[in-house]
Amino acid sequence: MSSNRTFTMIKPDAVENGHIGAILEKINAAGFSIVALKYTQLSISEAEAFYAVHKERPFFGDLVTFMTRGPIVAAILEKENAVADFRMLIGATNPSEAAEGTIRALYATSMGENAVHGSDSDENAAIEGAFHFSGREIF
Ligand code: CMP
Repeated sequence: MSSNRTFTMIKPDAVENGHIGAILEKINAAGFSIVALKYTQLSISEAEAFYAVHKERPFFGDLVTFMTRGPIVAAILEKENAVADFRMLIGATNPSEAAEGTIRALYATSMGENAVHGSDSDENAAIEGAFHFSGREIF
């Protein structure tokens, strides 16, 4: 994946609360185009693999339980400077620290249930996108 792409998930809390449409609208309004999109649910082993980098952290079990409790929307997004610009759009991991108007300030409820994921580097964007999508699902 080239560096003008990032990977996102709309997490189970935001899906449960009916925010899929509003979040996709904000993503498009911010100038991102959607090059891959999937409504799916992670299995426990998939969530453990996706978040393997956090497996020694105290919140790992809660994170896996949360991310597997219901469906998510996974997407690959394209825009110049995608990784950094998307992290600006979603705001800080903790919604109480997220800037006004960001997706997490609007839709997240807590540090653990924070509505959306955004890749933290070009390298991880490529890894995370490939985790969820085959080549023929990316446009
Ligand atoms: P995200 O950055 O998308 O991916 C890792 C997730 O772990 C993060 O969102 C939070 O949902 C969660 N997380 C990170 N730090 C904490 C924490 N201190 N307590 C609970 N959950 C956390």
